[in-house]
Amino acid sequence: MDLELSGRKALITGASRGIGRYTAELLRREGCSVAICARDPAGVDDAVTALDAIGDGRAFGWSVDLTDGDRTRAFVRDAIESLGGLDLLIHNASGFDLVGDEAGWERSFQVDMMAGVRAVEEALATLQASEEASITFIGSMASKFHFGRAPSSYGPAKAAMRTYANELAQSYGRDGIRANVISPGAVWFPGGGWDRRKRENPKFYAGVEKSIPLGRLGTGEELARIIAFVASPAGRWINAAHIVADGGQVAAVD
Ligand SMILES: NC(=O)c1ccc[n+]([C@@H]2O[C@H](COP(=O)([O-])OP(=O)(O)OC[C@H]3O[C@@H](n4cnc5c(N)ncnc54)[C@H](OP(=O)(O)O)[C@@H]3O)[C@@H](O)[C@H]2O)c1
Repeated sequence: MDLELSGRKALITGASRGIGRYTAELLRREGCSVAICARDPAGVDDAVTALDAIGDGRAFGWSVDLTDGDRTRAFVRDAIESLGGLDLLIHNASGFDLVGDEAGWERSFQVDMMAGVRAVEEALATLQASEEASITFIGSMASKFHFGRAPSSYGPAKAAMRTYANELAQSYGRDGIRANVISPGAVWFPGGGWDRRKRENPKFYAGVEKSIPLGRLGTGEELARIIAFVASPAGRWINAAHIVADGGQVAAVD
């Protein structure tokens, strides 16, 4: 199947490593130009060098802390200028608050929610001018599943994202812009959070593996494929959807 991504332009927040990076690599292999951001400048430089070396198109990157609203807006404007337009907007970065203190709630609000809102506002006119535009938010199964931790802002922020994506889909579908949320379950990749837990607490990790019907965690590449398909023109009839990509980890019907 042709994902019809060749020559398209994609922006991904938080893509120096992890799921965002796997997605950026896949989109580059499919012929997209990509613009990414992350906080650590060295991480951004390394990622851009590697991404730029893949296939046709270009890769651009900026060091940005998405808790900074003005900097976030400037990044999106610069990314659109460098790419020469925008077709795929993917908001992937998270504040990852699993503590639930005041600072964590604020970080979730700024990174998971407001960075997405700001990116959409800055990109909207350009997406409206695209032939096939999509907005994809990376949520979490934590938006619908209590996984045994103390209350924190992580799940609530991801749940708010789902409502916002639906509002975008309803408002801008007629402009040819789709909006969806993909909620991963536990995803392992080298150097990621689950890789750390596997080393630090193998018994807990083994319990999580056992709780997933497929008997293992997802991989970064598997998530990237799902994200790329939903965001691509090949997924053009998917709109206002919340897609749980968890190998069956959330043992619920909807
Ligand atoms: N991995 C999983 O099991 C899992 C499960 C469910 C949902 N998710 C969701 O999937 C997404 C990606 O998760 P991941 O595990 O791939 O994360 P990750 O490996 O920690 O990578 C996060 C990326 O975002 C960047 N980033 C973090 N905070 C940022 C900020 N304030 N401003 C700009 N960039 C920032 C990081 O670079 P810097 O640190 O240099 O900024 C990095 O490039 C998140 O939305 C997460 O909630 C992941």
